[in-house]
Amino acid sequence: MLAQAPNSYRTGPDERGHFGIFGGRFVAETLMPLILDLEREYVAAKSDPAFRAELDHLLTHYVGRPSPLYYAERLTAYGRAKAATEGRRGGAKIYFKREELNHTGAHKINNVLGQILLARRMGKTRIIAETGAGQHGVATATACARFGLDCVVYMGSVDVERQKPNVFRMNLLGAKVVPVQSGARTLKDAMNEALRDWVTNVADTFYCIGTAAGPHPYPAMVRDFQCVIGEEVRRQMQEAEGRLPDSLFACIGGGSNAIGLFHPFLDEPTVQIYGVEAAGFGLDKKHAASLAGGRPGVLHGNRTYLLMDADGQIEEGHSISAGLDYPGIGPEHAWLKETGRVTYLSATDAEALDAFRLCSAQEGIIPALEPAHALAKVAELAPQFPEDHLIVVNISGRGDKDIFTVADHLGGMEAATPVGLRR
Ligand SMILES: Cc1ncc(COP(=O)(O)O)c(C=O)c1O
Repeated sequence: MLAQAPNSYRTGPDERGHFGIFGGRFVAETLMPLILDLEREYVAAKSDPAFRAELDHLLTHYVGRPSPLYYAERLTAYGRAKAATEGRRGGAKIYFKREELNHTGAHKINNVLGQILLARRMGKTRIIAETGAGQHGVATATACARFGLDCVVYMGSVDVERQKPNVFRMNLLGAKVVPVQSGARTLKDAMNEALRDWVTNVADTFYCIGTAAGPHPYPAMVRDFQCVIGEEVRRQMQEAEGRLPDSLFACIGGGSNAIGLFHPFLDEPTVQIYGVEAAGFGLDKKHAASLAGGRPGVLHGNRTYLLMDADGQIEEGHSISAGLDYPGIGPEHAWLKETGRVTYLSATDAEALDAFRLCSAQEGIIPALEPAHALAKVAELAPQFPEDHLIVVNISGRGDKDIFTVADHLGGMEAATPVGLRR
């Protein structure tokens, strides 16, 4: 059943961390004082101009913000040509938000720097993190190197294997990468292990969560740090086109790059918003689309949509993309689905691979497999929109980390992109 639409979509969560029936803080008693400390410190930091100034300085000079808003001219022409072959005039104008150009190659660094500055305010000297694709782990290891902090990154051993370049980067940056052997040996299991570490090392340790999930205040805090994406898009689109975009697209793992793009537009009724989950082998097979194929339950400290079996046990998600195979989703997305404000779609592994190759060949930009899911839906829907429709798709990361995975799927390093995709 749909939840009631609120007057504003931007005021949540409530003081206990709820977005409607979702969110909250379902944590062990030992963690409760830490979570409350963190919340107090975050609330204080948010209204401290010195904190904001230090973060803004780092975002400009260390990360390289603002990231460009780029008109993807050839992908736009590709969509228009497709519309023409179907005998229609149409094909939206496609813009890329270039988060892959950030230092460390993804949006993850925006949130990490915010959390690391908080950890320093709180006097914490040891940082722990979980990672799937390795991008959050790399961003955390980077910030820890920058500030001279100890860093431990939990990573499922399957992900250690499929994201080798990022494991090497984390090691170079001085982090300790701990391969996790339990469960499916992917992101969910890494997060379990990080939470276990946190409970046992409460005094000196700060848990830097990589997505807009976990117990309150993490979903709201991570969202706030990622909102720089959407705020820049508002300004940049105003400069480029003199108005708001008509639709936004982003991929969803836990949902941080998506909520960062979406949130500043949630109260703009003319802006259509699309989140894209990973449909893996297909929604009737193994996938990681928690909203499309899951139901509400509790995991990692919050109530949200989860992939579960009939007994309520968490099922393993599958996606070609290590950053999207989480069997849950941030609680704000669960609520935005139920209120109907955001439309959630899904793209299969095969569709993401096609979009990965299309974007590389058409725009000279090799996207990560995660945003390739969003690109797949843009490639499908753009031809159906009119020519004056403005799309923004978040290119949340670059694809260097994925080239071995893609090569394996294509049958080897020689089998790259068919020249035909260029035309
Ligand atoms: C490049 C990239 N995009 C997207 C994601 C998914 O995370 P989120 O949904 O929090 O943005 C990841 C996760 O590792 C990632 O590395």
